[in-house]
Amino acid sequence: MNFEIQKRALSRVIRDDLDALVVLWPSQGGVEGSDKGPISVVVRAAAAHGDFEHKPGAMLTFYAHPGIQARHVVVVCIGEGSAAQVRSAVNAAWGALKSAKIKRLGLHATTEISGKTLQVAACALADASYSYTSTLSKPKPRTLKQVVFSAETVNAELRDALAHTQALVAGIEVAKEWANRPANHATPSLLANAAKAIAKGPAFKCEVMGPKEVTKLGMGAFLAVARGAAEPLRFIVMRYSGAPAAQAPVVLVGKGITFDTGGISIKPAAEMDEMKYDMSGAASVLGVFKALGELKPAINVVGLIPATENMPDGQAVKPGDVVTSMSGQTIEILNTDAEGRLVLCDALTYAERFKPRAVIDIATLTGACVIALGGVRSGLFSSDDALAQALQLAGDASGDACWRMPLDEDYAEGLKSRYADVANVAGRQAGSVTAAKFLQRFASRYPWAHLDIAGTAWRSGAAKGATGRPVGLLLAYLLAQAGPAAAKAASNRRR
Ligand code: BES
Ligand code: MN
Ligand code: ZN
Repeated sequence: MNFEIQKRALSRVIRDDLDALVVLWPSQGGVEGSDKGPISVVVRAAAAHGDFEHKPGAMLTFYAHPGIQARHVVVVCIGEGSAAQVRSAVNAAWGALKSAKIKRLGLHATTEISGKTLQVAACALADASYSYTSTLSKPKPRTLKQVVFSAETVNAELRDALAHTQALVAGIEVAKEWANRPANHATPSLLANAAKAIAKGPAFKCEVMGPKEVTKLGMGAFLAVARGAAEPLRFIVMRYSGAPAAQAPVVLVGKGITFDTGGISIKPAAEMDEMKYDMSGAASVLGVFKALGELKPAINVVGLIPATENMPDGQAVKPGDVVTSMSGQTIEILNTDAEGRLVLCDALTYAERFKPRAVIDIATLTGACVIALGGVRSGLFSSDDALAQALQLAGDASGDACWRMPLDEDYAEGLKSRYADVANVAGRQAGSVTAAKFLQRFASRYPWAHLDIAGTAWRSGAAKGATGRPVGLLLAYLLAQAGPAAAKAASNRRR
């Protein structure tokens, strides 16, 4: 999918060669008063009859209208133009068009809009027009190929936002693709191949380890989870070097459970298929690296993905087994379904060798987080206030929000074990917090944050599928870390 930006008045856009034109109309102001063109005439007539109230979501659609090149026109009211209003307006407009096989769509703003609003609108269109194809014998690929954004004033901020959005959408679609794929089409080995394919080019490196190397590293917790699986585990290390080597990197750690049966503590059958998404954290790391390759910002980033299935088997780890993690801490595995924290804790220890400025792990970690925050905000846990604040800001700015949760020491009480240094589960209460408390024990050597994306990485129900979150949040954070100067240099390199 390709995005383009043009400085154009509505009177010009109506003569452009487009299949459809979506006009974002504010509740107040806009071109209505001054413009004598066909769209304003229709809007004025409809408003006079009470058929187009200037309220968010109000919509007018017309077809093959004299004086307008685009066959389909949708005028949709964006209220005051907030991100949420723009997102739902674009979704409503696409809903009116989606059966029409639109290839080239114009998106015109009749008022001044911010880069953020442009990004939200473009991401909403990309999301709504996305079509999963990989395992269908008769795939229906998306028809929408080109989105031409236009406004009367187009400044450098909007142009940069568009370039950012183009890369972001590419990254989001990588994340969606891998999270949507059935587990037999997204094994640890296939994830590793995908990582290698994304990490092509001079700024990238990618190393893939198997059971032998992981055993040598002493990753006893990760190995315990992989014991029941016939598919061999992979530990993927990706590196992007956009800044001098002396600059400490940000390390992203993505949970890569390619299928979570629960292991011997097996899950109920209903909706178990959804556990193919249990590598959404890993998928978001792949997505971020895809976007980094397009934007080339001046930062260093490491991506770590511990990837395995969690399966029941004669060889599988059993409840009560005690294993030794790479950190040396012993862990009593009371519940084999709390496997995400086990693969992550060893990756968090491995992260120390990069002397990182920050480590962020991303994981579909707990059902409790789905109960706490639903699909609206990801759970954010952090031992570092500055890091937490930067991530919260990045989430708000990208429309991919998170919410900070507590890490009081009292929450760790239930993790105490008689037979090991720590147990891998506590009681039922505050499940997403106790999971984070477990991880925190392995992340004491650097500023650390944990994103629980169990609720945000996909939608259940009729429209079920991966969302590509939190690629938007992570990319916004990384670009902000690169700093305005670095972002500008990157944007000049692109031009
Ligand atoms: N992958 C699941 C978490 C999950 C549950 C994600 C539902 C998305 C939707 C994780 O490995 C898990 O099974 N967690 C357990 C932890 C429990 C055993 C302490 C859970 O949340 O039930
Ligand atoms: Mn589990
Ligand atoms: Zn899991």
